[in-house]
Amino acid sequence: METKISEITDGIYRLSTFVPDIAPPAGFTFNQFLVLGDEPLLFHTGLRKMFPLTQAAVSRLVAMERLRWIAFGHYEADECGAMNEWLAVAPQAQVAHGQTGCMVSLNDMADRAPRVLADGETVDLGGGRRVRYIDTPHIPHGWDAGVLFEESTRTLMCADLFTQIGNGPALTQGDVVGPAIAAEDVFKYSCLNPGMGATIRGLSKLAPRTLALMHGPSFAGDCSAALRALVDDYDRRISEAADAFKVA
Ligand SMILES: [Fe+2]
Ligand SMILES: [Fe+2]
Repeated sequence: METKISEITDGIYRLSTFVPDIAPPAGFTFNQFLVLGDEPLLFHTGLRKMFPLTQAAVSRLVAMERLRWIAFGHYEADECGAMNEWLAVAPQAQVAHGQTGCMVSLNDMADRAPRVLADGETVDLGGGRRVRYIDTPHIPHGWDAGVLFEESTRTLMCADLFTQIGNGPALTQGDVVGPAIAAEDVFKYSCLNPGMGATIRGLSKLAPRTLALMHGPSFAGDCSAALRALVDDYDRRISEAADAFKVA
């Protein structure tokens, strides 16, 4: 395995590791995102067992002594499995996550106390970079789920939203909705819930310019339209599930 590094927008790097054994024959990618600034931020730690590979890649972009923030979508192995490995090698680094994740998991599981982020709170990374934390409970899964929006580049680091299988390019202007619907059919990874419409349509109002997918290519194009199309499909699934429940 190798970790490929690509700059997807000014100062934001995608570190992508392709694992052919997951969802064969297409395979599956695990992506981390490094936002440079005076206080560099890593979004997703990668799997614990992938840490040597991920760390080698991140080290090519930033010294471990400078890494300041470690954030992720929710508490799960691919999102934060290597959290304590990062804390051990990056002395200035601190985990930052939403209130639910800190209360439920991170206050205990992180080797140093996390910074608790309120819904909508921003963190100034310096160098013109500023990230906004947004709670997205249960979307696509995990009651502690959240996303980060980098305001200067309008990049939405949307964690598992738009998950797709395969090993696409680092950045695409092509369709990311169809592949996400196909992956939902395969994995059924999303927690279908009534809050999806309002939350994902709220994300579309941020008018992102780039979507940084944890599992798939980053997307440069009409991100608001892509988010609305994704939630239209979730709406369909939710109403079909509700209808089936009524029949049963
Ligand atoms: Fe996940
Ligand atoms: Fe994930």
